[in-house]
Amino acid sequence: MKVVRGAAELREAVAELREAGHAIGLVPTMGAFHEGHLALMRAAHQAGDAVVVSLFVNPTQFGPDEDLERYPRDEERDAELALGAEVSVLFIPTVEEIYPTGFDTHVDPGRLATILEGAARPGHFRGVATVCTKLFALVLPDRAYFGRKDAQQVAVIRQIVRDLGLGVEIVPCPTVRDEDGLALSSRNVYLSASDRGAALALPRALEAGLHVHRGGGMPDEIVAATRQVLDAESRLSVDYIAIADLDGPTLAAAVRVGGTRLIDNVLLNEGEGGPVGAGPPIGPSAGVGTR
Ligand code: PAF
Repeated sequence: MKVVRGAAELREAVAELREAGHAIGLVPTMGAFHEGHLALMRAAHQAGDAVVVSLFVNPTQFGPDEDLERYPRDEERDAELALGAEVSVLFIPTVEEIYPTGFDTHVDPGRLATILEGAARPGHFRGVATVCTKLFALVLPDRAYFGRKDAQQVAVIRQIVRDLGLGVEIVPCPTVRDEDGLALSSRNVYLSASDRGAALALPRALEAGLHVHRGGGMPDEIVAATRQVLDAESRLSVDYIAIADLDGPTLAAAVRVGGTRLIDNVLLNEGEGGPVGAGPPIGPSAGVGTR
């Protein structure tokens, strides 16, 4: 595995892989690797791609009151895990490498970036879209792998790839969960033991919503069932619960527990492992949101 920090070095390493006949799979990350990240690397490897992983805590996707400074960072551990996942190139740029002095071009993804996470975190998807576009331009990958846990991010990335003709195949991968059901996230390290207990209401609530959907429930009933479980956990505050077309009809929610904001979602018309849907199809414009 090559660890590279500069754009020129990165291009050279990727060119070598291409010359050796490999297709390139990019896994963009902000580091603090967990099983979810490793699953993306494995998926790329299993598809036969030479795997390029970027590790960059992207400042432009954090709001002024968010956790940029304390976001978990452990480059050495991440490099070991990437090596174990048979990554070919680990790209760890500096902020100056990605955003050199005078940088003044941004990718603004439009309506999809203004709802749900976009409403709660103004500017977030502009930062994500800008950095991903830059990474795509630097690596020129055949495929890029993203976790479905950030379903709206997948949808936004698909939109910019389509709109700008970026020519990258976007591969969404299933959410990886701990045994207790909590979706893996680098931010889970912020949770105390009791926060974590309360946070488990989030996957339980989505499961309750999914159950109503499978029983033929309408969108407002699905949202109500989800809310009922979340409201029963007094330590949680609900940011939103919504059904939206995010890379497929999706029940999504965001909550706060202690000082931590958590998001999670379930696809409504297929299970993570295959089709499950007995419920009614939810069309692209069926959005039921409660804040
Ligand atoms: O999902 C993430 O970790 C980030 O949003 C991404 C895609 C690496 C862009 O910074």
